Amino acid sequence: MKKNNLLKIIFVSLMMVVLIGLAGCGDKDKAKADKNVKTYTAVTEPTFPPFDTTDEDGEIAGFDMDLMNAIAEDQGFKVKYKSLEFDALIPALESKQADIITAGMNAEDPARQAKVDFSDTYYDSGLVVLVKKDSDIKGVDSFTPDMAVAGQIGTTSADLVNELKADNKIAKAVVLNKNSEAIQQLENGDIQAVIMDQPVAKNYLKHKKHGQKIKTVGEVLNAESYGFAVQKGNKELQKKINDGLANLKENGKYDKIYKKWFE
Ligand code: ARG
Repeated sequence: MKKNNLLKIIFVSLMMVVLIGLAGCGDKDKAKADKNVKTYTAVTEPTFPPFDTTDEDGEIAGFDMDLMNAIAEDQGFKVKYKSLEFDALIPALESKQADIITAGMNAEDPARQAKVDFSDTYYDSGLVVLVKKDSDIKGVDSFTPDMAVAGQIGTTSADLVNELKADNKIAKAVVLNKNSEAIQQLENGDIQAVIMDQPVAKNYLKHKKHGQKIKTVGEVLNAESYGFAVQKGNKELQKKINDGLANLKENGKYDKIYKKWFE
């Protein structure tokens, strides 16, 4: 009887050693596999909610990040995010300091297409005019040559305000680093209007502190579609992003992420 118990104890001990060994190998294999997963650097400018913003811990967050993370999971790569001023995003790819731009960037701009390659588009947008709640301005056509109008540096909004200035439709094109700065100057009365992407303006107005002071007016201008940018010629990464995006649209994950940030 005693001999049987001893054999049982030896057998159970041996099994435990084998199982612990296997678990260790499993952890080592996982660590090795993780080490082999490519991590790309993505850059953004996070005053563009709900696409690109910062969460309560100051971490970069938004629709763009959730979508890119889902694409990365689908295609077997990882992404880490860095924030830069918007006009530094394309230079970061040209200098190979970064791999991807996740910044609600219009993919249909020829000047940009000459410098970087874009993924398939993932969001259709356009520009709107923001004015103070009590303003008589009805839209871009009611701007007058004494006005100051702002847009974010390097963006399609800045292109439009510079065009309006060049055509003497406004007195001053105010080009600012951050959309939040433009909103502040509008609410302070330092400028008479801001041009901004429609979904972002809508998001700012959702916050009472802005919705009580400013409003959008007029039609949506200059339709554009957002894409993820990669370094010129990086067809491999461009294909991974396109394939991942197509899969997410197919399996419903795109809609799930859209609902989280827009509904
Ligand atoms: N869609 C506009 C453009 O492509 C504005 C993008 C601003 N994005 C940002 N993350 N601040 O120029």
